[in-house]
Amino acid sequence: MEIADLVASKVLDVPDFPKPGVLFKDLMPLFADGPAFAAAIDAIIAEQGADSFDVVAGIEARGFVIAAAVAYATGKGVVPIRKAGKLPRKTVAATYALEYGEATLEVHADAFIAGERVLVVDDVLATGGTAAATLGLVEEAGGTVSGFSVLLELAFLEGRAKLAGRPIHALLTV
Ligand code: PRP
Repeated sequence: MEIADLVASKVLDVPDFPKPGVLFKDLMPLFADGPAFAAAIDAIIAEQGADSFDVVAGIEARGFVIAAAVAYATGKGVVPIRKAGKLPRKTVAATYALEYGEATLEVHADAFIAGERVLVVDDVLATGGTAAATLGLVEEAGGTVSGFSVLLELAFLEGRAKLAGRPIHALLTV
């Protein structure tokens, strides 16, 4: 099966979560299916190239799962991009608008070696606020964004417009 079809078969639409009027895309069935999850991780690595990055940054919370798997499979490390107040040392922070609400993300100021190539991963690209904030954080912290991969892109929310010029990969675009 094509990877896009596989991802599509493992997404559940949840109406009115976390707020009325929002159609939440739940990828937990993909995470829970061993062969499907492995195929998704392998596809991310194949499209980015295992030699194109030095470290993997995962965006809280579902991005952590993807980042850990990609990192383990390629022998790289993981850097968490966390919600405000979770990291214990000096951080770089960015506040941005979500599809629903507002949020702040942080990364440790010393998370990256200068020029280190960073693959950023998350489950969903929606409005792009989370991704744009993260890519800025990575660079402010000294990394170089080598690529950005998601399992699912919601194209109608035009998140790519906030990420102009960035190498973005989505296993499935709807
Ligand atoms: C979701 C998703 C992305 C982000 C995409 O995270 O996992 O990180 O929203 O939205 P955007 O493109 O409109 O910014 P959420 O804020 O639900 O956090 P969670 O994974 O910790 O539940």
